[in-house]
Amino acid sequence: MDQLLHEAAHTPLLFIGGKGGVGKTTHAASLACRLAGQGKKVLLVSTDPAHSLGDVLQIPLSGSIQLLSDTLAAVELNPQHIADKHFDQVGSLLAQYTQAHMLEKMQQHIEAAKNTPGAEEAAMLEALCKYICNHRILGFEHVVFDTAPTGHTLRLLELPKMMAAWTDALLSQQGRQKELREAALPFWQKTRKENTLLSESRNSRWEQALEALQKRQTLFAKAGTLLADPGYTAIMLVMTPEMLPLAETRRALAQLQHFKLPCRHIIVNQIMPQQHADHPFWQQRYARQQEILQLIRRDLGGVRLHHYALQAGDIRGIDALNRFGREGCLQAD
Ligand SMILES: Nc1ncnc2c1ncn2[C@@H]1O[C@H](COP(=O)(O)OP(=O)(O)O)[C@@H](O)[C@H]1O
Ligand SMILES: [Mg+2]
Repeated sequence: MDQLLHEAAHTPLLFIGGKGGVGKTTHAASLACRLAGQGKKVLLVSTDPAHSLGDVLQIPLSGSIQLLSDTLAAVELNPQHIADKHFDQVGSLLAQYTQAHMLEKMQQHIEAAKNTPGAEEAAMLEALCKYICNHRILGFEHVVFDTAPTGHTLRLLELPKMMAAWTDALLSQQGRQKELREAALPFWQKTRKENTLLSESRNSRWEQALEALQKRQTLFAKAGTLLADPGYTAIMLVMTPEMLPLAETRRALAQLQHFKLPCRHIIVNQIMPQQHADHPFWQQRYARQQEILQLIRRDLGGVRLHHYALQAGDIRGIDALNRFGREGCLQAD
């Protein structure tokens, strides 16, 4: 068994990150297929609205988990759909507190909120956190994410911590109000029974809203803990031996380090075999790749490097993905 698969087999959550076009989806799908081939129950999750995971697997996917074999399942989350669903839920919760004549205004605010920068990412992060925290309940030993958290999404994980003080203040205020209400209850009951019932039902809805907030806080906190646990989560960055992916990988490594989520594996993909370098054009490409591979060894040597060969043909469908994972691996010196 090669080292990448060996590491993956011991880590429940696997995130595959890197610049566009370097081979993230191909490697995420290949790793998931190979883990599933070992009898592990694996869920493959993509957040790419371009359906590239379905294209790579050659199986159309949707926003619901789809079984592809006894052990492999996949889901393609559409950021727009996730955000719409999230804001619909927020809207129906708020509607309970909004007077009838204000409903239209409130809906306009919700529509505006949907389009604020970061709204889709926040809704998507919540959806991902559910897979991170609940995969065992769903019956999966591994979840392979065809995307890695960026600095931007990682900052969102900090949000619930920042919100904690606010929610706690609301909850303690709620507690105090409840005490006061209970003390005053005998008077109210004698005089205005109907009003009491009305305000009680409003209070219970308020409690439900706070409960929803608290649930989200707990979910994000638990996901944050699992992500920071190197025994539970591995972040693997994919790159090609070119200068722009190298620059991006350096930045991603620093960012992950900053968030105390070190990346221990880098997949260097699409490496040209030497015997193809018989034309001046390919000789030059090959020589440049070799120079950049030296830079990668020099700059990123603290991280385990895995080399994968450039393939002559397409890597599509479960058989081809399995073969690529098995045979595409080169000796990374
Ligand atoms: N080692 C490789 N050899 C040949 N083609 C590759 C290799 N890795 C990826 N590809 C191809 O490169 C393209 C981009 O790969 P993909 O996995 O979709 O990248 P990403 O998800 O990072 O955007 C696809 O057409 C894929 O088949
Ligand atoms: Mg992709």
